[in-house]
Amino acid sequence: MDSHTPPGLDLNFLQGLRLLYVEDEDEVRELLSRFLGRRVGTLEVAVNGREGLEAFLKGEYDVVVTDIKMPEMDGLEMASRIRATGHAVPIIVVTAYSDRDYLLRSIDLGVDRYVTKPIDPDALLTAIHDAVMVRTQQKALLAAETRIADILQQTVMALARAIEMRDPYTDGHQKRVSALAAAIAKEMGLAREVVEGVRFGALIHDIGSIRIPSEILCKPGKLKPIEFEIIKNHSQAGYELLKDVDFPWPIAEMVRQHHERLNGSGYPQGLKGEAILLEARILAVADVVEAMSSHRPYRPALGLEQALAELESGAGQLYDAEVVNACVRLMRRRPDLLPEQGL
Ligand SMILES: [Fe+2]
Ligand SMILES: [Fe+2]
Repeated sequence: MDSHTPPGLDLNFLQGLRLLYVEDEDEVRELLSRFLGRRVGTLEVAVNGREGLEAFLKGEYDVVVTDIKMPEMDGLEMASRIRATGHAVPIIVVTAYSDRDYLLRSIDLGVDRYVTKPIDPDALLTAIHDAVMVRTQQKALLAAETRIADILQQTVMALARAIEMRDPYTDGHQKRVSALAAAIAKEMGLAREVVEGVRFGALIHDIGSIRIPSEILCKPGKLKPIEFEIIKNHSQAGYELLKDVDFPWPIAEMVRQHHERLNGSGYPQGLKGEAILLEARILAVADVVEAMSSHRPYRPALGLEQALAELESGAGQLYDAEVVNACVRLMRRRPDLLPEQGL
């Protein structure tokens, strides 16, 4: 074999790879080891599945190439044990069998590619190159997605802080409502994406208060009816601010509906029952519990017990009964979720 490399492969990329090669046939192993050894960065060789698994667990590899039929432990058994460790390393099987059962078992085990015997070294090298390249791109994509999700989270947190800076009395309100609302959604057994949506929506549910003059926002004591009308505007104002943001959740509607009540007595639209988003019904309950159990300049905190009693008396009328049940259950179990404020 000469030292040529098939066209289209990134030689530097291959030179950086750590490869584990498992093959029991001496002749094939020696030939291919020589070929692969010149082209990849590090090559470790094992003569059966058991040795291959031991080498894999001891070292760090970017790719595994294995024969199937071997003494002591076959290649598919080794592949399944590698997968059982949770490792996503690309695995390429080299096989003389192209029968359906083997192929299906390979797919089940998460084998990335297979190359048939007699081995064409170029085809094997191309399979190694492509399998690792795909895995590298998948990892980069995942890292980028995680980073974007983190940035979204941090941006929303910054927004939440900006809103609360204008209103020192409700400092931390949205954050506490967010933690509680997400815990209620989880307690209700809702899907993870829904729980995340509730968490995000709650974090900025009072964003519309940015439109309320601070004299009204910070006014101690009772509000005049006209001032209360202005305050009530914050849910619609929040909707206006958020409606064009392409969140993966119905955040703008959650924000608009968080003061709606089951019997239609809420605002701004007077929606009833299931016309109110489930997420908003959860947010409403968390908002009320947090507000009542927190200290306000015009009244001391009512305390958790009183807040829960108020909720239970409004269950089915003002608040979704299932949400109230989940909230009460949760607070009985984890009162630490809502530490009493400012007492
Ligand atoms: Fe609100
Ligand atoms: Fe609120």
